[in-house]
Amino acid sequence: VHWSAEEKQLITSIWSKINVEECGAEALARLLIVYPWTQRFFASFGNLSSPTAILGNPMVRAHGKKVLTSFGEAVKNLDNIKKSFAQLSKLHCEKLHVDPENFRLLGDILIIVLASHFGKDFTPACQSAWQKMVRVVAHALAHEYH
Ligand code: HEM
Repeated sequence: VHWSAEEKQLITSIWSKINVEECGAEALARLLIVYPWTQRFFASFGNLSSPTAILGNPMVRAHGKKVLTSFGEAVKNLDNIKKSFAQLSKLHCEKLHVDPENFRLLGDILIIVLASHFGKDFTPACQSAWQKMVRVVAHALAHEYH
């Protein structure tokens, strides 16, 4: 992947303003609410019986933070995303059996969370850079699948 200087700037400037705990929790909760079949991967997380339960579930919050923190590694390694996610790709494939389509769904959800947090500051150029970012991350996470 090639990143232009403008794309890099748009990605890192939004990232520097993100509240990883809040946005991570919201993104994972939205994934579980909007695409309820994703709940089956998180059977050990306790009560996921309603949107309210999901939004208030501390395990969802903690895991959302973990996932978005890991996403941050990609932001810090824009030129090396595939390599930095090789281990996580293996984990999601071999141990967790997560269908890679779900990486794309979570990426789209993250875009919506960013748009709702940043409003007007999430300009079309900004969205465009982030769409590319979530696509590259989804691709990297799917890379070790076989
Ligand atoms: C675990 C990252 C997407 C399902 C994890 C862990 C990380 C991570 C860092 C913890 C690994 C460890 O404990 O060593 C990511 C990233 C994603 C992503 C960066 C995309 C941007 C998804 C999606 C699903 C999923 C879309 C399912 C719908 C899981 C499950 C675990 C896990 C089930 C284990 C949870 C547990 O029981 O602790 N992921 N993940 N991940 N991930 Fe993902």
